[in-house]
Formats: sequence, C-alpha cells, structure tokens
Amino acid sequence: MFLEEIFCMSTSGVTVLLCVFSLLLLALRGQRRTRGTLPPGPRPWPLVGNLLQMGEQVHLSLTNLRVQYGDVLQVKMGSLVVVVLSGYSTVKEALVRQGEAFAGRPDFFSFSAIANGESMTFSEKYGETWVLHKKICRNALKTFSQAEARDSSASCLLEERICAEALEMVEALKEQGDEAGDEGIDPSILLVTSVANVVCALCFGKRYDYNDTEFLSIVNINTEVLRIFAGGNLADFFPIFRYLPSPSLRKMFQFINRMNEFMERNIKEHLDTFDRNCIRDITDALIAMCEDRDEDEEKATLSNSQIVRSVIEIFGAGFDTIITGLQWSILYLIKFPDIQAKIIQEIDNQVGTNRLPQFNDKPNMPYTEAFIYEVFRHSSYVPFTIPHCTTENITFNGYFIPKDTCVFINQYQVNHDMEIWGDPESFRPERFLTQSGNVNKTLTEKVMIFGMGIRRCLGDNFARLEIFVFLTTLLQRLNIENIPGQELDLSSTFALTMKPKHFRIKIAPRN
Ligand code: HEM
Ligand SMILES: *[C@@H]1O[C@H](CO)[C@@H](O)[C@H](O)[C@H]1NC(C)=O
Ligand SMILES: *[C@@H]1O[C@H](CO)[C@@H](O)[C@H](O)[C@H]1NC(C)=O
Ligand SMILES: *[C@@H]1O[C@H](CO)[C@@H](O)[C@H](O)[C@H]1NC(C)=O
Repeated sequence: MFLEEIFCMSTSGVTVLLCVFSLLLLALRGQRRTRGTLPPGPRPWPLVGNLLQMGEQVHLSLTNLRVQYGDVLQVKMGSLVVVVLSGYSTVKEALVRQGEAFAGRPDFFSFSAIANGESMTFSEKYGETWVLHKKICRNALKTFSQAEARDSSASCLLEERICAEALEMVEALKEQGDEAGDEGIDPSILLVTSVANVVCALCFGKRYDYNDTEFLSIVNINTEVLRIFAGGNLADFFPIFRYLPSPSLRKMFQFINRMNEFMERNIKEHLDTFDRNCIRDITDALIAMCEDRDEDEEKATLSNSQIVRSVIEIFGAGFDTIITGLQWSILYLIKFPDIQAKIIQEIDNQVGTNRLPQFNDKPNMPYTEAFIYEVFRHSSYVPFTIPHCTTENITFNGYFIPKDTCVFINQYQVNHDMEIWGDPESFRPERFLTQSGNVNKTLTEKVMIFGMGIRRCLGDNFARLEIFVFLTTLLQRLNIENIPGQELDLSSTFALTMKPKHFRIKIAPRN
C-alpha cells in the first residue's frame, strides 16, 4: 500500500503499467498460483489518481468506464484504490455468492467519527460480533413492528404512527397550498418534519410539534451531517487531510456530538422508565433484548450500551433516504400527470374515500407499487451502496483483489442497464406489470437501491411501506400539479443520496 502510494506520486502512469505488467509476468511464471491480474481501469495520474476523470457525476463516469473495462474495474480516488462492480449478475455473484469476502467496510476516517467507531453500519469490523449486532438491530425492528396499536383500528403501532403522520402532513400541505395559490409551495420542509417525526416516534415514542425548536435543531443536524458526508470526504481519499485543520470536518464532529447528546438523553429517559410489559418503541425493544441476553450466553460479546446505542443506526438510516424517495416521487407525479391519474384511480378503486390507506392495501395496488419501483430505478437516488471492502484476498471473475480493498457497487448502472431494461431512460411503471396486471417479481428484484446480500439494508420493507402510505394518503385527498412556467428537471448531482433540484407544487383538493 505504502509502496503503491510512492509510485503514484513520483512516477508516471507508464511505470505503473509496467509494474502491473511485471506482476502479470510473475503470476504467469506461477510463483503465486492463486494470484491473477488486477482489474483493468484507466491510467491513474500522480497524486490525484483518477479523481479528475471522474468529474462531478461520479456515477455517470463510472457507468461509462464499464463500457470500456467491463463489470470489474479499478480506479484510484486520490491515493485510495477502488474496485467498482457493475452488472446485475456480477454484483449478485459478489454480494450474495461470495458475500463474506465482500462484507467489510473500508476504515474511512469519516466513518470512524460516527457512534465513536462502534457503528454497526459504518465502522465495526466484519466478524462474529458484527453479525450478532446486525441480528439484534433486525430483531429490534421486528419486535417493534409487532407491537400493538394504541387507540385505533390499525394492525400495529408502526402502521398507526405512519398513517397518523401522513394524514397530519396532508392537512398541513392543504392549508399551506390554499394560502399560496398559483405560487405553489415547496413540499420539502413538511416532508422533512413529517418523516423525522415518524422516525422519532419509532425510536423514542415521541412526536414533536412542527415548530418545536429542539426537534427542528435535530432535524437540521441530521441533514447537515449528511450533506457534509455526501460530498465524499477528502480526508478519506487523501490521508494528509486528516492532519490539517478542516472547517467542514470540524463542523461534522460538532454536529455528531450534539446528535449523540440528544440520543444519550433519550436513551437514559427510557432506561429510567422501562416497563417490560409495555414496549413503547425501538429503544424499549433494544433494552428488552439486553435483559433476555443474560439467559442466552451466546450473545455475550456485545455490551448493553452497544445494544441500546443501536437505535442510533436506525434513526440515522431511516430518515434522509425516505425523505429523498418521497421528494423524487412527488416530482415524477407532477411531471407525469397521466401516471398520477392512474394511481388516483387505483386508490379510488381499492381504498375509496371513507377510510385511510393502510399497509395491507399495498398488495392490491400493483400500479402504485410499480410506480414506486420505477421511481427507485429511474432516479437511482442512491447510486452506490455504502462503500464495501474485501475481508480476504480473493480471485473474482479472474481478477485478483487483495484483502482490505475498497469496493463500490454501481447500483445506478444496474438500474440503467440496456440489457435488462431495454429503454432505461423512459419512465414507465408499466414495465413492472405482467399481462394479468400483477407486479413482476423477477423484474422488481433487479431494481437495486437497498444493496443485496449480507450488507443489505435493514429497513427495506419498512421504507417501502412508509413511502406507499405517504403517497396514497396524499393522493387520496389532494391533486398535485406543476406550477405555471416551472421547468421540471429530472437530473441530479452525484451524492450518497441524490436530491432532486428544488421545485414547487400547486395543491388542489380533490372534489
Ligand atoms: C428508501 C429508503 C432507504 C434506502 C434507499 C436505503 C438504502 C440503503 C443502502 C443502499 C444501504 C447500504 C447497503 C450496502 O452497503 O450494500 C443501506 C444500509 C442500511 N440501511 Fe437502509 N435504506 C433505506 C431506508 C432504511 C430504513 C428505514 C432503515 C431503518 C429502519 C434502514 C436501515 C439500514 C441499516 C441499519 C443499514 C446498514 C446495513 C449494514 O451495514 O449491514 N434503511 N440502506
Ligand atoms: C407552534 O405553532 C402553533 C400554531 O401554528 C402554535 O399554536 C404553537 O404555540 C407553536 N408552538 C411552539 C412551541 O412555538
Ligand atoms: C494476500 O495477498 C498479498 C499479496 O498481495 C500477500 O502478501 C498476503 O500474504 C496475502 N494474504 C493472505 C492472508 O493470503
Ligand atoms: C417478468 O419479467 C421477466 C424479465 O423481463 C420476463 O422474462 C418474464 O416473462 C416476466 N414474467 C411475466 C409473468 O410477465
């Protein structure tokens, strides 16, 4: 690694090529039988590697490079070697069939700041303890999603919370929309607070007023952290930046500290008032697991505090991703009014106007489901998974990838592969429907937005249910339209989660 860095700084790419070539020769001479060639890729420049060739739209550049170099290619981001995987079957081969070899996370500097380096998502080393930690998070979500509703006919507490919040948001949108008229309103602010409220309710059993200052500051912290994070941190690509004063890094650490304080305060409150017979939220579900653990020795490798702090993972993950999904959905709805009309038709047929949409309406509404999949696919707003890293030396598709190599999974490419989709650039929910009008599961499986295999997103079902309820509740009550003269731009700028450009909507109550 160190040698490679020196190479890159002081010699031209030709030398690197020669070097690769001689490695190849070495391999051919059979000195190391297990070792194949390194993956192909564009020639890196000294110091910056291929960063300049990447430009602003990293997902598009890497998708283009695949045409030349294939499904397994290698680039250099600063001094960091990154292997990029594309193509549905190649990605599946790596993340599912050779899952363990690709299940690590790179030890990025910025990742180590989250949850004091104890984060299941970002920093914990892949191994037995991590597997246990992920299982505990999954179980907590499951336990909680089985908790009973309090005071409504909803099938569970989760549904009750989501439906109530969706309704609240629609009422607020309507009120603001009435006042704004043709000017329209920016739906983002209400979306952010509503989705944040759902997460707060799930994690801590609390709901805040839209103008509560503590709540607003937490919401803002979270968006700020993600914004700084999303830029791809220079300190991850150029280790020297770790030692230089950096305003944005310092800001990130400040935000993360304030966030942690908020979390710790809530966790402490829960510990003080815990009642085994009344699981109020995910924090309670986690505390219950700590108690169960004593009877079950196999689980002894995680501390109570680590278990309870898992709520931070769920809080952080289930927030920005869902908001962004809803923002994109609303943009597509006003861009394609005929598609909106078909969804409204389905709502009228399946739900009617006398009750609110619920979780169990989803299987009966294939067009709406197809629409959500098509939003995921077409926007591909999570263009790469969180970076992975190899946990061992492996030979993959004939290429040698050493242990601890950073791996990017190009979800955007899979979602825009001509061979799977034929016309990837058209927005066409119908592509997911079979002749009999059902959702084609073989095809929806190929939409990549939650990753796959060992590292797959934990909140996948949960997220699709929440987006479904928010959209159907919205369209049951309101028509949304573009405002006069506004161009609707579906393009996006590269980030961990890509936001649509700002837009305003006009609201018209339905009959
Ligand atoms: C539409 C919404 C969402 C999208 C698009 C999304 C997408 C993703 C992606 C791409 C990953 C990384 C997978 C990988 O590294 O290969 C991930 C991981 C994760 N997600 Fe989500 N997610 C969403 C919502 C949620 C929600 C609501 C929760 C929690 C309830 C959640 C919990 C997690 C966790 C805990 C991980 C880390 C898994 C690991 O490192 O093993 N996500 N998600
Ligand atoms: C929030 O706004 C509502 C009116 O929109 C008001 O009645 C309430 O007092 C406000 N709450 C706070 C904490 O400012
Ligand atoms: C992995 O490969 C490297 C050569 O790149 C070698 O030095 C190292 O010993 C190998 N490690 C294992 C565990 O096989
Ligand atoms: C579902 O999609 C796949 C892939 O495009 C296709 O081969 C299959 O025939 C479709 N199934 C149905 C029932 O339409």
